[in-house]
Amino acid sequence: MTTTIAVGMLGLGTVGSGVVMRLTQAARKIEQTQGLRLRLAAVAVHHLNAPRAVTLPIGTRLTDSIEAVVTDPKIQLVIEVMGTLKTAERAIVTALQHGKSVITANKDLMATAGEQLTALAQRQHCDLFYEASVAGGIPILRTLTDSYATDQVTAVAGIINGTANYILSAMTAGKTYSQALAAAQRAGYAEADPTNDVGGLDTTYKLMILSQFAFGQQLTIDQLAPQGITQLTAEACQQAAQAGWQVKLLAQAQRFGDQLACRVAPVAVPQTTALSQVKGVQNGVAVTSQAIGDSLYTGPGAGSTATANSVLNDVIVAAQQLVRQTCGRAFNQNHADLTVTRLADLSQRYLIFTDSSVLKLQRAANEGDFSLQRHTADCYETSVLTTAQLRQLAVDLASDGRELTALPIAFSTVTTTTAIKTTQPVHVAI
Ligand SMILES: NC(=O)c1ccc[n+]([C@@H]2O[C@H](COP(=O)([O-])OP(=O)(O)OC[C@H]3O[C@@H](n4cnc5c(N)ncnc54)[C@H](OP(=O)(O)O)[C@@H]3O)[C@@H](O)[C@H]2O)c1
Repeated sequence: MTTTIAVGMLGLGTVGSGVVMRLTQAARKIEQTQGLRLRLAAVAVHHLNAPRAVTLPIGTRLTDSIEAVVTDPKIQLVIEVMGTLKTAERAIVTALQHGKSVITANKDLMATAGEQLTALAQRQHCDLFYEASVAGGIPILRTLTDSYATDQVTAVAGIINGTANYILSAMTAGKTYSQALAAAQRAGYAEADPTNDVGGLDTTYKLMILSQFAFGQQLTIDQLAPQGITQLTAEACQQAAQAGWQVKLLAQAQRFGDQLACRVAPVAVPQTTALSQVKGVQNGVAVTSQAIGDSLYTGPGAGSTATANSVLNDVIVAAQQLVRQTCGRAFNQNHADLTVTRLADLSQRYLIFTDSSVLKLQRAANEGDFSLQRHTADCYETSVLTTAQLRQLAVDLASDGRELTALPIAFSTVTTTTAIKTTQPVHVAI
């Protein structure tokens, strides 16, 4: 038996067009495998007369009234793919208040107002799903919910901003930051205002959502204090690559007992890891857990049809719940109360870049009780350093008028107790 579900959509841009395309192309399969006919009843846009990448199905109403869609008594399920914060929040609240399940791809909104919206959805016995909000086409949120249901995640590390990853890959291949950004904009991978992507805020929003699913832990932007990629040089990316690392804007959260140490920053990822091979606009999320061990999920982090696929998978789950009358269970049921700390505050190894003399570095390392290994002319790898040791090194070099760029080496962090045990007094060999 086939059940018809009336769907309303807000937005008909990159993702919205992909939804229309996939809905049409997959209609038969959806009916065959799910017993569902998804009827796109209405779509709201900002500019009614703007040219569109897709033709709407016959019978679908195009409107510039969000209100008309989210309050339409015939519509059972609303897809929000217009972006924005306040407008989208108002639209989702109204849709939920009118008893409609909602699917959104809006990471900015879900990272900042997800808790309130989820609570409202539950009170209204509606579903609120947002798979596409993290890593676009990679089904990572439902995987964490369903496939890690009995497992305990101990770490996640994600390359989850395609724009930043494209720029860093291009810089490693020889482009300057400005050339790489311009190339990303020409290819449609970067917006005219790329601030959120290159400044790390977009990655931060996604890590805030990932953390809820992986650890049950809410994070704030203040706790993450994101660092972007704008200060990096192409030379640093290239020297790191020659020495065996890929520079990546990495979102990390790692559990140590009841602590969750987090970071959004550019780091040096060892080329021996599969994550370092996630290049260009691709995304990758590495998950470490007690039962499965290490897994890596890679794929397109954005794009019209890939993102639409994640949206439509949510739509199908929500539609099935409507049919079974079982709506209202929160997408994420994982809740914990961990102490949030910063990975930056823990002892770890660094790749450092400096034009300081070898002699000066040797002296600083001997006095600071750590070791250095020279990889290329200006690139050295340190042994495990405390933040105090790193600060002191920067001060020592600054006293000589030399600058220091330090990139944390991913996955080299040790907890304070381990650091004390493993940091031996060393003598420098460069
Ligand atoms: N693009 C991706 O690959 C991707 C991946 C993952 C998640 N997302 C998320 O998906 C959402 C949509 O992204 P997108 O790239 O598809 O955006 P987009 O191409 O800019 O499209 C936005 C759509 O929303 C409509 N819209 C904007 N403000 C509106 C308003 N006040 N009232 C009615 N309609 C309005 C626009 O109407 P007009 O066309 O008439 O201007 C447009 O059709 C965002 O939250 C984004 O973060 C996108």
